Amino acid sequence: MRKLILYIATSLDGYIARPDGRVDWLEAIPNPDLLDYGYDDLLAGIDTTLMGNSTYQVVLGMEGEFPYADKINYVFSRSARPDAPYVQFVAEDPVAFVRSLKQTDGQGIWLIGGGQINTILLNAGLIDELIVSVAPIVLGAGIPLFGDGAAETPLTLVSSRAFDTGFIQMIYQPA
Ligand SMILES: NC(=O)c1ccc[n+]([C@@H]2O[C@H](COP(=O)([O-])OP(=O)(O)OC[C@H]3O[C@@H](n4cnc5c(N)ncnc54)[C@H](OP(=O)(O)O)[C@@H]3O)[C@@H](O)[C@H]2O)c1
Repeated sequence: MRKLILYIATSLDGYIARPDGRVDWLEAIPNPDLLDYGYDDLLAGIDTTLMGNSTYQVVLGMEGEFPYADKINYVFSRSARPDAPYVQFVAEDPVAFVRSLKQTDGQGIWLIGGGQINTILLNAGLIDELIVSVAPIVLGAGIPLFGDGAAETPLTLVSSRAFDTGFIQMIYQPA
């Protein structure tokens, strides 16, 4: 079965974005050696991404080309929408969709986020691995990694790594 991997960065207090959705605080953390935090390895092992429509809107607002143009990209939205460049919108239940997607042939699947979609798929027990990079910053407010209603989910730590930039990356699997 294909593996669903949540690869994401949070603040120390567990936020993935400011209350208005901005992730400027992540980009502002100095990275003089251009560390990639395992990003290239992740991309090499996946051929599909999943994201909620709010995350997609933030990605669209970023400068440059669509960053996952060589992947199959699904965007969850409750409104039926025509497909857009590089993405297919999914209006059906994310749990049923992902459950059947994981049964198809293919490489790993990257769950990009955000918090709403993370919570739905966590609660359904569909996330196989969580790669969480904690940034050296307290935001105080924002959009949480998992929202209200996230189910209590014990995890097993697979590995952890500290980076000179101050990030700590933890890899967990459901216990
Ligand atoms: N720090 C990081 O590494 C990182 C990574 C990813 C995302 N983010 C941030 O996360 C933020 C967005 O997170 P979020 O929690 O607000 O939103 P989200 O999970 O990205 O998307 C929420 C949207 O998904 C759709 N949706 C939710 N439940 C659904 C369901 N049951 N069926 C179908 N569609 C459903 C809805 O779209 P419609 O309104 O169209 O129906 C909803 O508005 C962004 O600011 C982004 O920058 C940060």
